[in-house]
Amino acid sequence: MQKLLIQGGRPLHGEISISGAKNAALPILCAALLTDESLQIGNIPVLRDIETMLALLNQMGVSVTSDHNAPGITLSAKQLNNPIAPYEMVKTMRASILVLGPLLARVGQARISLPGGCAIGLRPVDQHIKGLQAMGAEISINHGYINATAKKLQGTRIGFDIVTVTGTENLMMAAVLAEGTTILENAAREPEIIDLANCLITMGAKIQGAGTDVITIEGQSSLHGAKYSVMPDRIETGTFLTACTATGGEIRLNNTNPYLLGAVIDKLVEAGAQINVSHNQIHLTMNLQLQSVSLRTAPYPAFPTDMQAQFMALNCIGDGTAIITETIFENRLMHVQELKRMNADIEVEGNTAIIRGIPHLDGAHVMATDLRASASLVIAGLIAHGQTTIDRIYHLDRGYENIEQKLSMLGANIQRIN
Ligand code: EPU
Repeated sequence: MQKLLIQGGRPLHGEISISGAKNAALPILCAALLTDESLQIGNIPVLRDIETMLALLNQMGVSVTSDHNAPGITLSAKQLNNPIAPYEMVKTMRASILVLGPLLARVGQARISLPGGCAIGLRPVDQHIKGLQAMGAEISINHGYINATAKKLQGTRIGFDIVTVTGTENLMMAAVLAEGTTILENAAREPEIIDLANCLITMGAKIQGAGTDVITIEGQSSLHGAKYSVMPDRIETGTFLTACTATGGEIRLNNTNPYLLGAVIDKLVEAGAQINVSHNQIHLTMNLQLQSVSLRTAPYPAFPTDMQAQFMALNCIGDGTAIITETIFENRLMHVQELKRMNADIEVEGNTAIIRGIPHLDGAHVMATDLRASASLVIAGLIAHGQTTIDRIYHLDRGYENIEQKLSMLGANIQRIN
């Protein structure tokens, strides 16, 4: 199993490019199921979750090709002969549930392994199922599989009980081929939903309101092929900004979108960073004493749960005491135990962590428990005195493209070993 070795204590300096967004690319790949024409997708990040999604789509009958002359990959779902998402694939990536809506809309049937609980929480999919049932799908759950059929999905009004990102995406993709108009209320407003909607619109869908909490979709009889480029990854961007705020230094991030990171940038400025943005770049300088920053995660546009773990690491050496409350997932503080192995002073009460800043962390042997927890440990390793070894970095490879190369380009002493 591979590990990361980090010698901490170096400030970050330099510039790198941000990759395409994992959480936008995954639903956009599934959008290829909605048409028998080709969908050419650019700015796809090279990640394990993307490989898993491509393998899943491929075993359903979707052809995946890449051509040196055309950027990105081309997906063609002309033939869909196996609308099944088997347990072996779904268990490694919960986003596999995103094939359910498109399959029902396009071929009227799907058999998807029920995603179980995962490290960060229970993560049920009841809202996806309830919405599809409201559109007329017949759904039963047997032997761990969601079995769904629909003659023709019907547009309707659906109010989500809770804000769900993939739930909103699944129903939006189901609704683009439904008969009549679907209105999604209490929809998630994440930028990745706007990106998916823009891709669907390029394919001929009629969608209004993506990015607000009410999305209206007028079903079409078919969608056509298109070319689309995935948005930059706002969480990767935020992770590098947080790393540099914690280590000190000066970095420039290119090919990103600074306007999707308002809540994160506000907190970094509160921590002492100086940030300048232009249309696709962010420049960050950190040369002040790091201040502790309290935060509470909530759906977009509030502070993202996917940045909570990284800020936990930053706060370990901040001046003062910070309070971090996780409100989205019930078990997303697992990095705390690992940070404590590095001498962090953190107390957990329910879903709240109280972090008392100390002058420095000590390098240690730690274990990654999920994707963003891994990023938190990388930041902790960069600021710690001495060497940190991070185990189970396959979690990191699910969502960060070339992270150790990018950090090395910024001057970090980090290497991957077998
Ligand atoms: N929930 C339900 N029922 C449902 C759906 C969700 O109770 O039917 C609950 C979840 O258990 C959770 C809350 O609602 O407590 C919000 O979950 P949501 O459905 O919004 O999460 P998700 O769509 O499964 C996406 C991202 C996550 C990100 C969350 C929140 C993708 C592929 N994943 O997950 O990304 O944390 O939204 O923003 O888009 C990551 O990249 O590390 C990651 C976990």
